[in-house]
Amino acid sequence: MSNEKILTASGITKSFGSLIAVNHVDLEIYEEEIVGLIGPNGAGKTTLFNLINGLETPDQGEVTFKGIDITAMSPHKICQLGMARSFQVTRSFTQMSVEEAIKVGAYNRKNEKEVQEKVEWVINFFGLEEIRDCKCSDLGLASLRKVEVARATATEPNLLLLDEVAAGLTSAELLKLMSELRRLNKEAKIALCVVEHVMQMVMSLCERIFVLDAGELIAQGVPEEISNNQRVIEAYLGRGSYGKTSSAD
Ligand SMILES: Nc1ncnc2c1ncn2[C@@H]1O[C@H](COP(=O)(O)OP(=O)(O)O)[C@@H](O)[C@H]1O
Ligand SMILES: [Mg+2]
Repeated sequence: MSNEKILTASGITKSFGSLIAVNHVDLEIYEEEIVGLIGPNGAGKTTLFNLINGLETPDQGEVTFKGIDITAMSPHKICQLGMARSFQVTRSFTQMSVEEAIKVGAYNRKNEKEVQEKVEWVINFFGLEEIRDCKCSDLGLASLRKVEVARATATEPNLLLLDEVAAGLTSAELLKLMSELRRLNKEAKIALCVVEHVMQMVMSLCERIFVLDAGELIAQGVPEEISNNQRVIEAYLGRGSYGKTSSAD
């Protein structure tokens, strides 16, 4: 983590009809930092990601990335500035091979000549050589998740938002993913913001954690502060409905 902020969200609010999904949230992320965003289902985590990466526009508040106001910018432009996010692999990718899906990511930022070089780097980094020609629709969950993180990485982000990439993985798959994310952070110097229910991952991976509940930021701090925070325990950690990896482990 450096002392330079890469992202600042100030007072961002988003309502859907009468529901306030994200309510005056302030959040900042520093360069090369790993932060977590946790909270119960429906807390507003995905909506907050959508507001940060331009899929939704806030009703109020501002988002600044690398000192540039990106509040009303399109996701594509924001991606070109160096912010990427993971999606569950969408249907448009299922007919593509792993290599093609990663190439789609690389084209966001690279010209034709540089694309293949980037694709090779990403395939090598994530150890995808053996499945590079496989169709995405034929992959298991853990490989699909990895390909999705790889596709986002191919856009050369300085900040990568990951929405529940560990959901459903076995303990062994989770540990592998965590070590890849750590390497991505340390070697490629990418700041990560992870939304995750798997507390084992959040607590050991993240330097700081933000907690959302019913659209409001109810706590932020280092993992130890968060796990001992009474309000967080009552709203989330004490409910016992988090932290489950797949029973297949
Ligand atoms: N496009 C939408 N239209 C209406 N309601 C939405 C929409 N997106 C999210 N919501 C609602 O906003 C709240 C926050 O949702 P979400 O951001 O998906 O939470 P989380 O990711 O923390 O589970 C939920 O009550 C959800 O039903
Ligand atoms: Mg969500």
